[in-house]
Amino acid sequence: MAGTQTADARLTEVVNDLLANLRGLIRKHQISHDEYRRAIAFMMETAAKGEIPLLFDVFLEATVDQVDAAGRGGTETSVEGPFYAPEAPLLRSPCVLPHRANEPGDILLLSGTVRSVEGDALSGAMLDMWQSDAEGAYSHFNIPADQAPWNLRARVIADQSGRFEVQTWVPSPYQVPKDGPTGALLRGTGRHAWRPAHLHLRITHESCETLTTQLFFSGDPWIDSDVVGAVKQSLIVTPAKHEDPKDLKNKGFAKPYYSVVYDFSLPRVMRKAA
Ligand SMILES: [Fe+2]
Repeated sequence: MAGTQTADARLTEVVNDLLANLRGLIRKHQISHDEYRRAIAFMMETAAKGEIPLLFDVFLEATVDQVDAAGRGGTETSVEGPFYAPEAPLLRSPCVLPHRANEPGDILLLSGTVRSVEGDALSGAMLDMWQSDAEGAYSHFNIPADQAPWNLRARVIADQSGRFEVQTWVPSPYQVPKDGPTGALLRGTGRHAWRPAHLHLRITHESCETLTTQLFFSGDPWIDSDVVGAVKQSLIVTPAKHEDPKDLKNKGFAKPYYSVVYDFSLPRVMRKAA
């Protein structure tokens, strides 16, 4: 690539800078041949175990998110992470996310409105939602597909006023996969593998920039030390607990439930000058 007629200016600049930084790091830390070969073996093992996306998402995606979202208006973004699955079931608000008959944990009602940064309701906005269950497991990854292939995942269409109301279950903190090379690197550098509990959302509307974000819960034991560093203060919510027997009876719930109201705001699509 470099030295040919087709050299890409952006690629050249970034790769040259990457190499300059790596060479500086080798000199600074007096990296030995033995350590250099261990680094190559680590990358080979990471690739062989399919952990390249995990490794990058754990250590670098939050920084890409910060850079990419700089100057953006509206609700703050957060990382997508490695557990998104496209084409989830399409549901209209109000709705209940797909779940198992014996779905563990506490019910959570999430509601709010999707608006543009100017405050206009975004009729028919789509909220693509995914999350762990109350035991920290994701469908498509560590919940067996024959139990519930789309467990706690859906694309929810907001109503004409941009309002949505979704019944789901309170997610649990979980550890990123830690049995492979990514986990070994975390352990070897004194880091834990925990993520605080969170809901993932990817919100789209034809007139706006897509919002990929997460909602976190106050009081979570890992809220200040997320292994992927994705928590932002404006994305932390405090669920309200509901235990009035009449209310529970009306809703047909056998035990107390929680609710969160959160309004999302999306910047308009940037029209690039011709
Ligand atoms: Fe997640």
